[in-house]
Amino acid sequence: MLIGRDNGAIVASVMVGHDGHRGWVYYVAVDPDCQKRGFGRVIMAAAEDWLRGAGIAKLQLLVRRENAQANAFYGSLGFELSTSVMYQKWLDGRATTPSN
Ligand SMILES: CC(C)(COP(=O)(O)OP(=O)(O)OC[C@H]1O[C@@H](n2cnc3c(N)ncnc32)[C@H](O)[C@@H]1OP(=O)(O)O)[C@@H](O)C(=O)NCCC(=O)NCCS
Repeated sequence: MLIGRDNGAIVASVMVGHDGHRGWVYYVAVDPDCQKRGFGRVIMAAAEDWLRGAGIAKLQLLVRRENAQANAFYGSLGFELSTSVMYQKWLDGRATTPSN
């Protein structure tokens, strides 16, 4: 978990990790009062540096299709759409629907 501070106050966070092959980030977030000031770009750069330091060459992440803000954000950071598809299966008995 990496956090970004501005004058001591936490303004950004990211959960970053890897499986020995690919890196992943989860829960990328910037305080709503502090968005569009470059903090998202900085916290993602920190996550990328952490992964490079661990010898990981590729970073992957999941974004909800309808999250236009996040899709634009990652596009401007140089991310491209993967050719892979994601499969999911609930293990607690609930039915899988397109929305969950
Ligand atoms: C997505 C999020 C992390 C971006 O953080 P941010 O600090 O506002 O982003 P930055 O100011 O660093 O912007 C970096 C780039 O992304 C682009 N960007 C950010 N928000 C954007 C938006 N709503 N629409 C279009 N572009 C956007 C900026 O244009 C900027 O590019 P530039 O530097 O070339 O101008 C932030 O909006 C957020 O926390 N959203 C809610 C949580 C979320 O959806 N997280 C992602 C889950 S996968």
